[in-house]
Amino acid sequence: MTTLFSPLELRDVHLRNRIGVSPMCQYSSDDGFANDWHLVHLGGFAVGGAALVMTEATAVSPEGRISPHDLGIWDDAHVAMLARIAGFVHEQGAIAGMQLAHAGRKASTKRPWEGSGAVAIADGGWADVVAPSALPFAPDYPEPAELDVGGIERLVKANRAAAGRALDAGFRVLELHAAHGYLVHEFLSPLSNARTDLYGGPFENRVRFCIETVDAVRSIWPERYPLLVRISATDWMAGGWDLEESVELARILRNHGVDAIDCSSGGLAHAAKLVVGPGYQVPFSERIRRDAGIATAAVGLITDAEQADEIIAAGKADLVLLGRELLRQPHWPLLAAHRLGVPGPWPPQYLRARLR
Ligand SMILES: Cc1cc2nc3c(=O)[nH]c(=O)nc-3n(C[C@H](O)[C@H](O)[C@H](O)COP(=O)(O)O)c2cc1C
Repeated sequence: MTTLFSPLELRDVHLRNRIGVSPMCQYSSDDGFANDWHLVHLGGFAVGGAALVMTEATAVSPEGRISPHDLGIWDDAHVAMLARIAGFVHEQGAIAGMQLAHAGRKASTKRPWEGSGAVAIADGGWADVVAPSALPFAPDYPEPAELDVGGIERLVKANRAAAGRALDAGFRVLELHAAHGYLVHEFLSPLSNARTDLYGGPFENRVRFCIETVDAVRSIWPERYPLLVRISATDWMAGGWDLEESVELARILRNHGVDAIDCSSGGLAHAAKLVVGPGYQVPFSERIRRDAGIATAAVGLITDAEQADEIIAAGKADLVLLGRELLRQPHWPLLAAHRLGVPGPWPPQYLRARLR
């Protein structure tokens, strides 16, 4: 039987178990550079036994940062420190993944512990916030400019170049962030995409930017390495992107070299009312996995070993991603292994602490 501690092969990448670190913004960079915070933060999860250690949303261009302090990969100079982090993660037997991101209309905003909404230009914000349509996320957010086709092509190329740098830095898994109301999701959802050209209107047009970006990334990302796409399976809003469209998109992405769909939800519509509880997004993963015939990752309020194990054993997902619980307990996978009565990937330095 497949369990939480069964290995997973994705292309030529071997994951030692089914536990991944969900991407989590740290808002701790200057000019997009990773630093010691990221090394210790991400490195700690590799020590703690996770199989996949994913970076936070990593901006493919400077105006695509959520805040002035986001991690970035738009410059070759970003590669060196990221390479150190990926190297350390791999030395611990985990796999380093990077989430490629562009914040679209949710760019140039304050980091959470400094408030919310747009950050003033005097405080490091920027004027060139872009989106599929000139529709702000919320009244206190930036007014985005509508991207023209040249701008769209530039961003597709920026994703490709970023993927090349992630490869140079030694990452072995990439995830395209197409969720949470950021740029790719803004193209997908009719609530944020009011375009009348080839990139707006019917489903085939709204998914175009996502597919072009996936194709561009896949053209440089090696065959041997997996590519994931994180989507918001629903906007939780009438008239918004929904689960049926998610299944359809997942089927298309499978044929464009995407190996797994990371199934999140929400983030696009300010007024959306999410129904949140333990494992609340798992049904999205289960449905997409079954009906699109693609591997999935489940995420969202997965906190218990037995809960995570059941998700994998029941075939509701191929991988579970944990966010906040791993911030609380970076060694959660080691503790989960003990609860489930399996050895667990204890680092030799910690063997004397192993629970028996
Ligand atoms: C501090 C923090 C930062 C986050 N940053 C990102 C991000 O960069 N990219 C992303 O896709 N999701 C981000 N998320 C969402 C998480 O990846 C995850 O989907 C969400 O927290 C639900 O999982 P959890 O209940 O295990 O925390 C963030 C969540 C937290 C708590």
